[in-house]
Amino acid sequence: MKKNVRLEKIVSLAKRRGFIFQSSEIYGGFGAVYDYGPLGVSLKNAISQRWWRAMTQLHENIVGLDSGILMHPKIWEASGHVSNFHDPLVDCKQCKARYRADEFAEDYESIDWSTTKCPTCGTTGKMTEPRQFNLMFKTIVGPVEESGSEAYLRPETAQGIYVNYLLTQGAMRLKVPFGIAQIGKAFRNEIVARNFIFRTREFEQMEMQYFVKPGTDDDEMLRWKEERIKFYTEALGIDHDKVRYHQHGENELAHYAKEAWDIEFEFPFGWAEIEGIHNRTDFDLRRHQEYSGKSMQMFDDEAKERYFPYIIETSAGLNRMLLAVLSDAYWEDEENNRVVMRFHPAVAPVKAVVCPLVKKDGLPDIAHKIVNELKNHWKVIYDQQGSIGKRYYRQDEAGTPFGITVDHQTLEDDTVTIRDRDSQNQERIPLTGIVSTIQDRIDNYSK
Ligand code: GAP
Repeated sequence: MKKNVRLEKIVSLAKRRGFIFQSSEIYGGFGAVYDYGPLGVSLKNAISQRWWRAMTQLHENIVGLDSGILMHPKIWEASGHVSNFHDPLVDCKQCKARYRADEFAEDYESIDWSTTKCPTCGTTGKMTEPRQFNLMFKTIVGPVEESGSEAYLRPETAQGIYVNYLLTQGAMRLKVPFGIAQIGKAFRNEIVARNFIFRTREFEQMEMQYFVKPGTDDDEMLRWKEERIKFYTEALGIDHDKVRYHQHGENELAHYAKEAWDIEFEFPFGWAEIEGIHNRTDFDLRRHQEYSGKSMQMFDDEAKERYFPYIIETSAGLNRMLLAVLSDAYWEDEENNRVVMRFHPAVAPVKAVVCPLVKKDGLPDIAHKIVNELKNHWKVIYDQQGSIGKRYYRQDEAGTPFGITVDHQTLEDDTVTIRDRDSQNQERIPLTGIVSTIQDRIDNYSK
């Protein structure tokens, strides 16, 4: 495969600076699983908190949920995942390379595989016919394999919301329209995993299911499409021209969807989906009623009627969102010979570095005092190692938006300098104004 230089640079920075590591590296790695280092986990938490806030705090009618990864196996029969959640797989008998058949053509069933050339070894006539491969991971519940029962690791968090929606609605006395949001792990046995953390076998989803009155679903779909794209540009500070919509055609629609749109981001390897917005109709609730034998209809107090609400789903991948944030932030500032991760300060893993200009004259003590105050608000670090320029550049690469420096003038007038990561501008501000200045700059950040 062609090397993608920009992606390789991001992968290498992510490892070097403690954002993302290949899983089980000392054992040669474990396919399509990644571990998040100190800066990576902070960034991931900050992004998911932005999403959680956007959903459950800024909308009075959206509540949270955290359901289990393991659930009753019948759920996956009802949802259609047992019979429909397949990818078509083809192998090269010559070099053993494995592909998704739909990577060759969307209409892969019309391909003559016996004349198809393997993209890896170039041999013609050695490709197998496509075989359907279920993406769900199976596991055994119970201590003895033979007598245990099979269960699945959930391939989406959505079903946990559907099976709990009536309990949630009753407990919180919710009226349509209302939403239930959830963040959690999902697992898919992807045939081909590539492009770093873009497609992995273990990942996190941030899903919100919005329950609406049938007939209002088209309008709600429009509203959520607009709201969700704004999240990327406003809450995460991603450039407008790097996100766009893509509507699913008939052949692309998932088995549950009446209408579906992706939000795509321009990754270093091209435009690709980060989030799906789906009109799932009442498909899932009807199926759960059929398979569980329990009513999944809601009673509408005002209309005095029972019905299946329609569901508009917004389904985002946290890891993909993080890759989008990393890709958008990566900036080679050639003029100043530095690499800068231009994160929106609200998601930057470390908000400020506090530096005494020199290691003497009482400056370190003042810097430690500042750290002690700032750490009540944000993750900040203390650094006295090396020249001040080197210290700033180290933090530019980690995406730390602010540098606070204590110098000899601090001893005279109780002021410090605050350096801006992107412009490198420095200003003097009073010691007492550091917290409010940083907060103000986080709130009013624009690239
Ligand atoms: N509940 C609907 C659903 O799961 P999806 O389009 O299959 O829809 C939603 O997945 C999002 O989950 C995707 O837009 C993507 O961000 C993320 N996602 C799906 N598979 C993934 C994988 N193998 N690795 C990383 N993220 C994945």
